[in-house]
Amino acid sequence: MPKKRALITGVGGQDGAYLAKFLLEKNYHVTGGARSIKPTDLWRLNELKIRDKLEIIKFELNDKNIINNVIKDGKYYEIYNLAAQSFVDKSYINPIDTSNSNAIAVVYILEAIRKFSKKTKFYQASSSEMYGNIKSKIQNEKTNFLPVSPYAVSKLYAHYMVSLYRDAYNLYCCSGILFNHESPLRSEEFVTKKIISQLIKVKLNLLPHVKLGNIYAKRDWGYSTDYVEAMWKMLQLKNADDFVISSGNTHTVKDFVIKVAKYLDLKLYWLGKGINEVAVNKQNNKIIIKIDKKYFRPNDIKNTFGNSEKAKKILKWKPATSFDKLVEIMCEAELDKYK
Ligand code: GDD
Repeated sequence: MPKKRALITGVGGQDGAYLAKFLLEKNYHVTGGARSIKPTDLWRLNELKIRDKLEIIKFELNDKNIINNVIKDGKYYEIYNLAAQSFVDKSYINPIDTSNSNAIAVVYILEAIRKFSKKTKFYQASSSEMYGNIKSKIQNEKTNFLPVSPYAVSKLYAHYMVSLYRDAYNLYCCSGILFNHESPLRSEEFVTKKIISQLIKVKLNLLPHVKLGNIYAKRDWGYSTDYVEAMWKMLQLKNADDFVISSGNTHTVKDFVIKVAKYLDLKLYWLGKGINEVAVNKQNNKIIIKIDKKYFRPNDIKNTFGNSEKAKKILKWKPATSFDKLVEIMCEAELDKYK
């Protein structure tokens, strides 16, 4: 039997790499679309030792012709759209690029599927950012959206378009509303990896302190490898639908710092308030965490807290990795670099 063919856009990113590995293990023929096919930009595929097992193609979200040709010629059974401008903070600096990549490009893909590949199943990476600062304490598929960043608005546009193409054209397309998900393959632009990587440097006397922004933001953090399995499960249903994928726990950025410090055997005490709050290393009385205005966003979500009961019931999916285990996995992987 010929292998099922899958296209993953954004294969060079954290989720793209883990999903590619997952699909290869399920015996798919995997095509990875990447904006840059330079080896240095595909380091995650090397890290997972799968670079040679994939077909890599150039994929540019803002190029309608490339999108049309790739989808027309590819005869894909499944397409996972993970390519995006995924930095919430950068979306304030570059709202137009963010909208083109995260919103308009998704319509190019949907249109190409509608015109040339109607049977292809499509997964869109939606985001918990879309809930913004909605009042409900816990968020599920029925919760309203109240986006508070250009990133979130762009993702919400795509989210609604996916649902529209499903209903209006009877296409198999769905969105996974994924809450924050991390791993050793995260880049340092995201707070979890930044904290781990920089606190290790502080411990090794390679850096005096870590500068952070809003440490009271709460996030529902899970493990990326668990979450890519949910993406695949969504495309195996008879009828396409949208699902929240979350850990069901929420922690502040400060909690994350405390967990990592504990793991690294750094004993902290906290002093001051607001912009003047610091964490001091008990062993030598040096300040090792500072707050820097530079890392605050014009708007920030106070709390994300997902309820993935629907995924549990219908997809038979639940997160396998606890918050403590996630911190441990990420710290271990980072410490390994110094061995
Ligand atoms: N990046 C960063 N750097 N964030 C900081 C810092 C810092 O120095 N200090 C505090 N934070 C706070 C941010 O203000 C935010 O409230 C929280 O830490 C998490 O920030 P990020 O790790 O950058 O992730 P995010 O929540 O903005 O977005 C991530 O998750 C979304 C939901 O899955 C990204 O992966 C998005 O692409 C994704 O949609």
